[in-house]
Amino acid sequence: MRSQSHTSSRPSLSRRQFARLLGAGAACLTALTAQGMEEQLARRMGASVESAKLLPKDPANLILLNSNENAYGPSPAALEALAEAHSVVMRYPDYWADQLQEKLAAFHGFDPAEVVVTCGSTELLKMAAQAFLGPGRRLVLAEPTFEAIVYYGRQTGAEIAKVPVTADHRHDLAAMAEAARARPGLVYVCNPNNPTGTLVAKQALEEFLARVPRESVVLVDEAYFHYADDPAYGSLLDAVHAGSNVVIARTFSKIYALAGLRLGYGVAREELMQQMRVQQVIESWNVAGCAAALASLDDDGWVAQNRERNRSTRAFLSEAMEHRGHACIPSQTNFVCVHVGAPVPPVIEAFRQHGISVGRPFAGLPEHIRVSLGTAEEMEKFVAAFDRVMAAPKPLSAVNSLPAAATPTPLWAPN
Ligand SMILES: Cc1ncc(COP(=O)(O)O)c(C=O)c1O
Repeated sequence: MRSQSHTSSRPSLSRRQFARLLGAGAACLTALTAQGMEEQLARRMGASVESAKLLPKDPANLILLNSNENAYGPSPAALEALAEAHSVVMRYPDYWADQLQEKLAAFHGFDPAEVVVTCGSTELLKMAAQAFLGPGRRLVLAEPTFEAIVYYGRQTGAEIAKVPVTADHRHDLAAMAEAARARPGLVYVCNPNNPTGTLVAKQALEEFLARVPRESVVLVDEAYFHYADDPAYGSLLDAVHAGSNVVIARTFSKIYALAGLRLGYGVAREELMQQMRVQQVIESWNVAGCAAALASLDDDGWVAQNRERNRSTRAFLSEAMEHRGHACIPSQTNFVCVHVGAPVPPVIEAFRQHGISVGRPFAGLPEHIRVSLGTAEEMEKFVAAFDRVMAAPKPLSAVNSLPAAATPTPLWAPN
């Protein structure tokens, strides 16, 4: 039985057989290009291609710069695999998840037993919280950071220790190591960090590992790994190789643009992995997502192209904002925090009035809006809207009187 599967007793197929299986079903499909698929979806929804893209998420057809997605969509190879996967969606996904687990293990140079495929990386965060936290243990994390782990950590009865970031919006590793000394449990380091966009240098993180108690597990969330270009940055997969108490979380939701297919993965040494694996929902994967992820991993050129697009869009936005006198937190991700010089809730609402959804308010960033990087065209629209929102002699007086956003506060705010 493979380490990935909870239930699998199926014979193993070779990759070629797998490809043939997908291909057989695909023979009855029209050859769908990425554009063809979009058109077909649009027709079925009785909408334009542009609005069909947005309909399921937001009927108001907002430009979505709020959830750090990849606006350019998945690689053509992933779209093709998705079209083919329609022929096998009647099957349970364990076989495909096994293939993906093996491919990821080979991709990163690990044993498959050290890799788990999850329902978004969010499932891995939940599994880690359940495995390594509980009453009498402590979750240590930065504030602000990605908070899903707090939601799951709290459910275990663990104590939550939030350590404010430094004045330059970076993890305060010294204070985090200190906080981790009491009631060791889980330390969460989002690197690069959401929502600040800043990173922890690889060497600093390695030194940090040596300073946290041996019983602690350090979960490094590398969701934005591909977007970082600071030479001091590096994955902590090496630390897993070295046998440290480190869990790495990765996702297919960001550069691979498969957020809606809910696929992520984790890497850790086998003993830690076993403790997390028992917390996983049985068969939490999906065939279509696995097929798209398998194809995405082969498309290096497309990843490089997206990195480059992101880099130039990030530079464009940062320069446009700085030029207008609005400082940005230097970002190593696919989003940028812009200082607007006023409380953010009315600014967020004003952008909505201009057809643009930006990120929600974040603790510790009362005057910054988080802007996810969209396409070049979307960013030009954002800059034009920014000028309109900020233009009036008393820029925010008009929007201060707007009613607060209608959406109720969720149990935890995503993204
Ligand atoms: C840092 C970080 N980790 C994890 C996630 C969850 O992503 P997913 O569950 O789609 O993999 C997000 C989503 O925005 C994120 O920003």
